[in-house]
Amino acid sequence: YRNLRIALLGGGSVGASVASLLLEHGEELANRVGAGLELIGVAVRDLDAPRTPAIPRELLTTDAESLILGADIVIELMGGLEPARTLILQAINSGADVITANKALLATHGPELFEAAEQVGAQLYYEAAVGGAIPIIRPLRDSLAGDRVARILGIVNGTTNFILDLMDREGASLESALATATALGYAEADPTADIGGYDAAQKVAILASLAFHTTVPLESVYREGITEITRDEVESARKAGYVVKLLAICERLTDAETGVDGVSARVYPALIPISHPLAAVHGANNAVFVEAEAAGDLMFYGAGAGGRETASAVLGDLVSAARRHVIGGPGVAESTHANLPVLPIASVTTRY
Ligand code: NAP
Ligand code: HSE
Repeated sequence: YRNLRIALLGGGSVGASVASLLLEHGEELANRVGAGLELIGVAVRDLDAPRTPAIPRELLTTDAESLILGADIVIELMGGLEPARTLILQAINSGADVITANKALLATHGPELFEAAEQVGAQLYYEAAVGGAIPIIRPLRDSLAGDRVARILGIVNGTTNFILDLMDREGASLESALATATALGYAEADPTADIGGYDAAQKVAILASLAFHTTVPLESVYREGITEITRDEVESARKAGYVVKLLAICERLTDAETGVDGVSARVYPALIPISHPLAAVHGANNAVFVEAEAAGDLMFYGAGAGGRETASAVLGDLVSAARRHVIGGPGVAESTHANLPVLPIASVTTRY
């Protein structure tokens, strides 16, 4: 029975929950894996910052570079592009498998990271990067790999859904609802990423790349946030039988003018009829509605944000990565072979 050494980069909303659950349930997870899971340290910026749940002081370090040396598996939960990108590349090149929830990094530098991993036979896991606790990466990459996805409609940002829901149900202002979402650990370090639609755009770029077996660059995603939405608009929509949701949409389309087949990916506030299943997604929950040619309609629903909830997806990746270390076997290559072009917003004939 060997010990796998786990390095955690980040001890914030998600990282602290990952550390806590790993320390609490480590033995049970180890039995599932067939190897011990030893948390060797948690890299943070401020050793004295308060953490919920608490992380044992002796595990904390500000030296992330040294921590990843000698780790079998590195979990990156710092967020942001740098130093996360450099540290992940260092971890991969030192032979570690990497788990990340960092959609900003994946949507911006994903191809570079996947290529680096492929070159050394390492794996990059990212189930927590889209939809928080909801299993959606594996279903798209693996379970639906034999089907053809036609369209995905998603509520993929918990913070904006929480805000719009509070505006609708309690008449809250955007500012006060955002403050609550931040206090609950749902919002990004810079919440402009949430309310400006950037976070949802990063997530839809990841979903579209998986669903359509191509690479959808972030710059190709059309994006509008919720910053212009007012309580009055939300109330008027409700009276007319609709709710306002920040929708992330990607679909396989034929451009009406050029006849070119491609992919469209876009994020904007949309009016959803109250009878639609997506209208019933409340609070910080997310839902991803997948329309596939053979499977028909599938809906994936659950907590889209929150430290403990997201930690569930991270620990699922940890079990997968640890099992790979124990049993060996080939990695799962990212499929980017169709190279479908990304179509401009003008190609979209119906907004929703
Ligand atoms: P967070 O609360 O801001 O925590 C970030 C952690 O990283 C903090 O512990 C911080 O240290 C540490 N850190 C940041 N920069 C560092 C650096 N240069 N060196 C060392 N440590 C550094 O973020 P979070 O909400 O846990 O999110 C982490 C990641 O998960 C992000 O990529 C986010 O997009 C993603 N995610 C979050 C959620 C969610 O619900 N929160 C859900 C899904 C995915 P200090 O504590 O000392 O400042
Ligand atoms: N800030 C993100 C959200 C966290 O609110 O959805 C989960 O990715």
